[in-house]
Amino acid sequence: MEFIKVTKDHAPYIALIELNRPKELNALNLQLMGELRDALKELDNDDNVRVIILTGNERAFAAGADIKQMAGKGTIDMWKVDQFSTWDQINKTRKPIIAAVSGFALGGGCELAMTCDMIVASETAQFGQPEIKIGVMPGAGGTQRLTKALGKAKAMELVLTGKFIDAEEALRYKLVNKIVPVELYLEEATKLASEIAAMSPIAVQMAKESVKRSFEVHLEEGLHFERKNFYMLFASEDQKEGMNAFVEKRKPDFKGR
Ligand code: HXC
Repeated sequence: MEFIKVTKDHAPYIALIELNRPKELNALNLQLMGELRDALKELDNDDNVRVIILTGNERAFAAGADIKQMAGKGTIDMWKVDQFSTWDQINKTRKPIIAAVSGFALGGGCELAMTCDMIVASETAQFGQPEIKIGVMPGAGGTQRLTKALGKAKAMELVLTGKFIDAEEALRYKLVNKIVPVELYLEEATKLASEIAAMSPIAVQMAKESVKRSFEVHLEEGLHFERKNFYMLFASEDQKEGMNAFVEKRKPDFKGR
């Protein structure tokens, strides 16, 4: 892996992926995105990993897709490369992904953070979709996910002007879960990940799948989907362990079975 760094044992059951093109503010070139897709697929299949943290560095989570790589491309080049199938695969990750964001999360960087399930931000985080300033528009979900998170008026403002919002505004608009001082953002993301990693990984993944479903379908179908997953969990040992532990007044020890 050239442009990402994967640490499988960052904390018990928690893997850390660091985007690692610091000189280019972690601009998301095709190779980086391919590496990210492959790493997520592998971590998704690793029973020792229950939660994934995705981060950049203090200056930048990611400043967007690599503009230099796209600048000379035509429509057919872009179509052939089909970069969004990589994004679609990333979006299919079953395990929860927490984005730990400091500095710039712009364009594809903001879209990548929003593709994650939760965002822990440092006080210096800045979010935006500045594609309009370079003659294009968001292409990896920005017009959809930002609108769902912020509402139409604010999303329209960001997408049409390219202006950034800071961490405080992102929190006010419910784009992020939490803001912490810059020296603590990874620690805070790890704390959140640890809380989730203590739960049954099967229940966590089915619950994640159900919450995500609410963005895709109408209420009745979403409720039906939720119910199926709820019933399915009664086939797991973790359900017995969780409920017995409650009755026996002890802490559950979930095995992911
Ligand atoms: C390629 C980038 C880059 C990017 C920064 N760099 N962003 N290279 N693609 N998206 C490079 C710069 O060219 C420079 O390298 C180095 O990183 C440092 O950046 P500076 O501009 O010198 O830093 P600064 O003055 O602090 O400004 C930071 C910035 C600015 C505000 C984040 O770099 C910026 O506006 N970047 C572009 C943001 C953007 O438009 N993102 C959307 C991209 S389109 P050199 O070698 O030149 O010094 C997109 C589409 C998504 O994301 C849909 C498809 C996935």
